[in-house]
Amino acid sequence: MCGIFGCILKSGNAAPIIHKALKRLEYRGYDSVGEATIYEGKLLVKKDKGKIDEVHAAHNLDDLPGRIGLGHTRWATHGGPSETNAHPHGDCETQVMVVHNGIIENFLELKNELEEMGHVFKSKTDTEVISHIVEEELKEGCSLADAVRNAVEKLDGSYAIAVISNKEPDKIVCARKESPLVIGVANDAVYCASDIPAFLPLTNTAVIVEDGELVVLDDKGYEVRKISDRILVSREPTIIDWSPEMAEKQGYPHYMLKEIHEQPLCLRNTLRLQEQYLDLMTTFLDRAGEVFLVACGTSYHACLAASYIFSKLAMLATHPIIASEFVEQHGRAINIDSVLLAVSQSGETADTLEAVQCARERAATVLGLTNVIGSTLTRVARAYVCQQSRPEIGVAATKTFTSQLSVLSQLALRLAKKRGKVSHVEIEQLEEKLQQIPDIVERLLEAQEGQIKKLARKYRDKKCFFFLGRGISSSSALEGRLKLLEIAYAPAIAFPAGESKHGPISLIEPGFPVIFVCPRDGTHKTIRSNIMEMKARGASIIAVIEEGDEAIKGMADDYVEIPKGLPEVLSPIPYVIPLQLFAYYMATERGCDPDQPRNLAKSVTVK
Ligand code: AGP
Repeated sequence: MCGIFGCILKSGNAAPIIHKALKRLEYRGYDSVGEATIYEGKLLVKKDKGKIDEVHAAHNLDDLPGRIGLGHTRWATHGGPSETNAHPHGDCETQVMVVHNGIIENFLELKNELEEMGHVFKSKTDTEVISHIVEEELKEGCSLADAVRNAVEKLDGSYAIAVISNKEPDKIVCARKESPLVIGVANDAVYCASDIPAFLPLTNTAVIVEDGELVVLDDKGYEVRKISDRILVSREPTIIDWSPEMAEKQGYPHYMLKEIHEQPLCLRNTLRLQEQYLDLMTTFLDRAGEVFLVACGTSYHACLAASYIFSKLAMLATHPIIASEFVEQHGRAINIDSVLLAVSQSGETADTLEAVQCARERAATVLGLTNVIGSTLTRVARAYVCQQSRPEIGVAATKTFTSQLSVLSQLALRLAKKRGKVSHVEIEQLEEKLQQIPDIVERLLEAQEGQIKKLARKYRDKKCFFFLGRGISSSSALEGRLKLLEIAYAPAIAFPAGESKHGPISLIEPGFPVIFVCPRDGTHKTIRSNIMEMKARGASIIAVIEEGDEAIKGMADDYVEIPKGLPEVLSPIPYVIPLQLFAYYMATERGCDPDQPRNLAKSVTVK
């Protein structure tokens, strides 16, 4: 996720306004930043790697003349953080400047075509292709609006862009597909931005731009048209009554809830990963003598689920290992034939990096899955995939967990295809289901949130919880338990349901809440008897079940239904959603701060 901003002032300098706006968008990305303004027919640019304050200290972002300009704060997806990869991006002649938030899926083929036409690229970003396409269209005599329209019609993927040119120095043209874009309207200025917080202190009059729309901003205000048929769209402004702080959370009371609801979009992004990176990772995994999946906390739970997926789909045995135990447990055994796949949202977790270092010293192949390009993990891994989940501000991992599962599932599917261990029909069915997951999660969030809020109120004062599952759902149970205990400070225990009778069941007494994660998969029959074990001792049964599972509905005190027809290997993604929401609402019911739970940090960079 990145933050884009543009403004046209009736008078005065745009640069300081842009700088402050980018500070309000910094939560959307902060590995590099830049600004461009138009002054006396020239495009002037300042940009560099680093946080906004660092780049401002080095370059003085306010010191750019001109009343019209663009700004961008970056969260790298294509091309690591650097001055050349920072936005805005220009064309060959520096007559066009573009800022972009999103992912252009077909940028490599567009870039090849443009290079064959003689265009010279400066960056490794997907965004720069837009600048050169607009340059070509302007050469054909198009207006800036038509040039941008023709450019975005060539793009596959997601975008929110804003474009300026010294060919039409009094305009900003912006366009949207999936990535958010809003217009701010004031008496003495007009703004475009990724998010309302950027201009909320300047105006609370906002116009939401919908998918497939293009907007021309000028001194008269704004004009919205459909990209497809250029039809004028009349769109009344909305008056925003949020506080600036609420606006950063898009109206949600906490980042964690906003990020839970961001999961459909993030899951769509993880389905747009660069093929070559996934294929490279698959090749290393296929050749491995043994594979270790190494991580901490929530990322470790993703590894646990992945170990089931790799085994069931690709017949690949993998070893999910808690990173802080890796050196002690496998430090001497790992060797040149080993592959260590490190999973780390931050890419900076000390325990995980220590395991990686040990593997590198023993000539093993290190692979990485992370959310942060430019993180240490991306620098030490032989190959890595960035999951593109956008910054996660809440300390509790939510959207990054489901995105990790999506990426790991894609790797397992590629491996299964490469090894021929699963029929093409089954592979196609699984790939189709994976594509449906974002919509399933979206429907689930809409349908179940209210009910889960009530469950949290009902069980708010319980002293301890069990989270149980079998097979791949035991990893979902572990994740649900971690969420609840880390943000609601509720003691919770999770283990494979079959273990209950080997000790933990002694804790059960009437009213003890036991949460079962029980999709209708191969473990369904046995988990029903586990439920009965608990019920017979008076436990309160809360079950996360497949829609219409009458057998378990009849046993449970409460249940949450998940849409039918999900393959077992993909079930952790939707089945964890109710557990995330339950933990969130338990935290708010108990007066805890879900975003900043006590004693915890977002990235644990100490051992
Ligand atoms: C999960 O909610 C926690 N924030 C924590 O367990 C986290 O998953 C763990 O510290 C690993 O972080 P990483 O993915 O950045 O390596």
